[in-house]
Amino acid sequence: MSDPWARLRRERDRLYEQPVDLTPRPGSASRTEITTVMQIQHANNDGNVHGGAIMRLVDEAAGIAAIRHARRRVVTVSMDDMSFVAPVFIGDLVTVRATVNDAHRTSMEVGVRVDAENLASGERRHVASAHLVFVALDAEGRPAPVAPVLAESADEVRRQVQAKVRREHRLVRKRALAEAGGE
Ligand SMILES: CC(C)(COP(=O)(O)OP(=O)(O)OC[C@H]1O[C@@H](n2cnc3c(N)ncnc32)[C@H](O)[C@@H]1OP(=O)(O)O)[C@@H](O)C(=O)NCCC(=O)NCCS
Repeated sequence: MSDPWARLRRERDRLYEQPVDLTPRPGSASRTEITTVMQIQHANNDGNVHGGAIMRLVDEAAGIAAIRHARRRVVTVSMDDMSFVAPVFIGDLVTVRATVNDAHRTSMEVGVRVDAENLASGERRHVASAHLVFVALDAEGRPAPVAPVLAESADEVRRQVQAKVRREHRLVRKRALAEAGGE
């Protein structure tokens, strides 16, 4: 029996291969939110939520934001500044918000903030933050150009400037490690 969804998948795959509009795009166009309840499969041995479960959600939300900005397939290149500031408990409602802070030629930095809500009390707390870098890929899997980010508010300008500082640090570190014979 033929797969009724194969045509839709092929059409979607073809869309990823079309030329992309590189007109600067606001960060708000990439804004992504994932909300999910922490369940037993997210637990660590202490019965709290495993850090890796949060990292997976962070990567997922950031990846969607990067695709929304680039309208291309993307790959995660780095996750840095991942900080956990409070524990998450089974039964908490976790919200992961991701936005592209800045884009260079083929890479994008995505800022992510994770909040947890105690559903019994309604109390919300900031539990983690991270910055990730994604690279957009063309149909052959090579790095492909992405649109610049148009910072619209004072906060977005600040995030973009900070993203450029982090990018410089990443590149300096990468070069230094390469010179030292590593990475
Ligand atoms: C992403 C990848 C295609 C880049 O390849 P590459 O040979 O380094 O390509 P380039 O040198 O052209 O760099 C492409 C971009 O990545 C950026 N980049 C490369 N390494 C980086 C790093 N460690 N940190 C941040 N950015 C990095 C470059 O600055 C460049 O950005 P720009 O075009 O905006 O200036 C390659 O590293 C790769 O395939 N990595 C595996 C990704 C993956 O599979 N992720 C999922 C893991 S399960």
